[in-house]
Amino acid sequence: MQESIIDINAICHTFSDGYIGIKNISVSISKGEFIILAGKNGSGKTTLLRHLNGLLLPDSGIIFVNGQDVSKHLIQTRKTVGMVFQDADTQIVGDTVFDEVAFGLENLKVKRAKINEKVTLILENLNLLHLKDRSPSTLSGGEKRKLAIAGILVMDPEVIMFDEPFSNLDYPGTLQVLSTIIKLNRSGHTIIIATHDVETIICEATRIIIMEKGLIKEDGEPDRIVKYLESYGVKEPCSSKFGLGLQPWLT
Ligand SMILES: Nc1ncnc2c1ncn2[C@@H]1O[C@H](COP(=O)(O)OP(=O)(O)O)[C@@H](O)[C@H]1O
Ligand SMILES: [Mg+2]
Repeated sequence: MQESIIDINAICHTFSDGYIGIKNISVSISKGEFIILAGKNGSGKTTLLRHLNGLLLPDSGIIFVNGQDVSKHLIQTRKTVGMVFQDADTQIVGDTVFDEVAFGLENLKVKRAKINEKVTLILENLNLLHLKDRSPSTLSGGEKRKLAIAGILVMDPEVIMFDEPFSNLDYPGTLQVLSTIIKLNRSGHTIIIATHDVETIICEATRIIIMEKGLIKEDGEPDRIVKYLESYGVKEPCSSKFGLGLQPWLT
């Protein structure tokens, strides 16, 4: 059993209007896992992710990241657990691709030479270096989404959470983002992807957690969990429906 990196212990979250977004969730996530957090719209996926890097705090229960209570170590938690927001590319602020990625390090007052070295390496790894002087607004959908990922990666997170990473992307854009996420997992990052559409990534996942109405309803290996998806309003991949097992999108 791998060492755990996130431990969620009996957390509940009630929004200010009284709606209960998370109902007594407990779950552990180990280093290196590739987790799909599935569930139909409104099931609580985004709300749960926001707890894992301290953007929301539970009303009861406790979350540990690397053994530290998130509510008492917000800055360290956000360094360890990065989040690529849904449609993060609409929040891009830099004038160039390079500046956009450098932004987080500049805020931390990192030395210029170190920033240049680090940003260049990340752009190279994500195959964006040739675009470094371009205005982010001129990039394709897939390139913009990769740029949003680069802006998170530059902070060296161990865990990277993606909220609906394939939304509004065409097929080439989806493939670019998919291969980036797979590479990140292979290089040792723990990956958590919230999505209501699991077909694209199910083959890469080591575990699927299904949420409904703020609760975890299923949690296990993709081969087993895939058959439960449709009873929670999530489409079962075609290959699985037709008895062909789980097929990778990228070969
Ligand atoms: N700030 C908020 N105030 C009240 N209800 C909210 C708030 N944010 C989310 N919700 C509700 O919590 C439920 C779960 O939302 P969310 O976590 O965004 O679901 P998902 O990401 O699975 O689509 C939804 O019913 C949503 O309307
Ligand atoms: Mg959501």
